[in-house]
Amino acid sequence: MSWNLYRHYKGNHYLRLGVAAHSEDLSPQVVYRCLYDNPAARTWVRPQPMFEGVIEDGRTRFTPVGRLRLVQPEDMRTVLAFGYGEWKQDKTFDQYCAGKDTDRNHLRGTRYLLEDAAGQPVAALNVLRFRESLIGFASVATSPEYRGKGYGSLLLRAVMELHRFAQPDLRFVLFSEIKPAIYERLGFFVLPPEHQHFLPTPAMATGDTPLSATEGEFLKTYF
Ligand SMILES: CC(C)(COP(=O)(O)OP(=O)(O)OC[C@H]1O[C@@H](n2cnc3c(N)ncnc32)[C@H](O)[C@@H]1OP(=O)(O)O)[C@@H](O)C(=O)NCCC(=O)NCCS
Repeated sequence: MSWNLYRHYKGNHYLRLGVAAHSEDLSPQVVYRCLYDNPAARTWVRPQPMFEGVIEDGRTRFTPVGRLRLVQPEDMRTVLAFGYGEWKQDKTFDQYCAGKDTDRNHLRGTRYLLEDAAGQPVAALNVLRFRESLIGFASVATSPEYRGKGYGSLLLRAVMELHRFAQPDLRFVLFSEIKPAIYERLGFFVLPPEHQHFLPTPAMATGDTPLSATEGEFLKTYF
């Protein structure tokens, strides 16, 4: 499974979900999801030739910026290399990778990989489903040479919107090992003290209501 990501000529980013047939004339319509907060709508359709075409000045309307896909077993060393510098704990890279084979936290979840427009793997994260409507993000990491270019944020946003498309009431939680600003820009807030079990690494969540006690229970066993 994979989903292409685009930058509209006006600057915003979008995730292409697929192509649908128009019910009246069967014309192909691209279904896509915006990766920014648009109060008008999050999911849009546009005739495929228009989506893939150019605007009056000759520029493409949507320029590919990357591709989101599921991590395959053969990607694992590449993905582990993204966060190795921060998480190695004195291990060589081979030791670090070998240790993951028996690491319960590593083995669970569904990993997503972001490739840039040239097909280069640049960032990855792990999605953990705690409850029907509560998803955790773990192991968010960008390849060191690609950091600071927006790939980490793009990956997080794309995975969030992909899941929200299927399930609008979802909320997301994570623990921020870095200053929370990057996550706050994506709608996460630092949870109140009763949900903090691993300080100084704060638990954060999206949504505008407090987490329930049951939802909070999952944060205790996050790591
Ligand atoms: C955190 C990380 C995934 C961000 O990826 P990225 O592709 O560089 O992210 P973006 O380019 O979208 O955003 C950059 C923002 O990340 C934040 N950031 C990145 N590294 C940071 C750090 N060490 N401390 C604090 N903030 C950091 C900053 O807010 C930065 O914004 P700025 O450029 O305005 O200062 C990447 O730095 C990384 O892989 N770090 C090592 C692993 C890690 O710590 N993961 C986070 C676990 S919670």
